[in-house]
Amino acid sequence: MSLVHVSKHPLVAHKLTKLRSVETEPKRFRELVRELSALLAYEATADLLTRPVTVQTPMGVAQGAELVDTIGLVPILRAGLGMVEGVWELMPTAEVWHLGIYRDEKTLKPVQYYNKLPTEPRVSVCLILDPMLATGGSAIAAVDILKQWGVKRIKFVGLIGSPEGIQRLETHHPDVAIHLAAIDERLNNQGYIVPGLGDAGDRQFGTG
Ligand code: PRP
Ligand code: URA
Repeated sequence: MSLVHVSKHPLVAHKLTKLRSVETEPKRFRELVRELSALLAYEATADLLTRPVTVQTPMGVAQGAELVDTIGLVPILRAGLGMVEGVWELMPTAEVWHLGIYRDEKTLKPVQYYNKLPTEPRVSVCLILDPMLATGGSAIAAVDILKQWGVKRIKFVGLIGSPEGIQRLETHHPDVAIHLAAIDERLNNQGYIVPGLGDAGDRQFGTG
């Protein structure tokens, strides 16, 4: 069974279109990344575990629910950083664990340069946040690290995926759900997603 979910929400489609535009400046780009991340994380967390609780309202007692799962947000630096805020607003008790991974420009292989995970995982589910799933190398490396750390439930939340990257991530980690706003046509010779949105890190941080 495929665990690939592409949002069908009209707000996601609208905001992604604005995000892709070459006219969109870094400030608006960052806002759109934040908003899209929240919408996608909302969909990605639809299966979180809750327990029944009662709550006293001004008018009586209501049956309610309380989250049981503890959530870790794992942004892949740099571009994943811009996805944290929107998701964190929805789940403010989440822990945030940063992983620094970049793609070597020539080989396109992932290089890990930062990892501040503690020895034991303290969360029951991790959401990897990275806007682009291109060759899939960075996402696979991130999942490898989290599994070695001992996390049992991992979801990848991104904005745009390539068919190649999705297939590689599914092959290496078939248990990891992949939540995206869109699946694009292909990768070009430099490993960029086409039509994509360009370099997600550069467009957020005004570099490049
Ligand atoms: C981008 C992106 C992903 C990676 C995806 O990061 O944010 O982490 O490329 O490519 P892949 O699927 O082929 O591994 P990049 O290496 O450009 O680093 P940056 O976020 O620091 O700009
Ligand atoms: N990283 C990006 O930022 N964009 C791509 O298209 C591929 C990898």
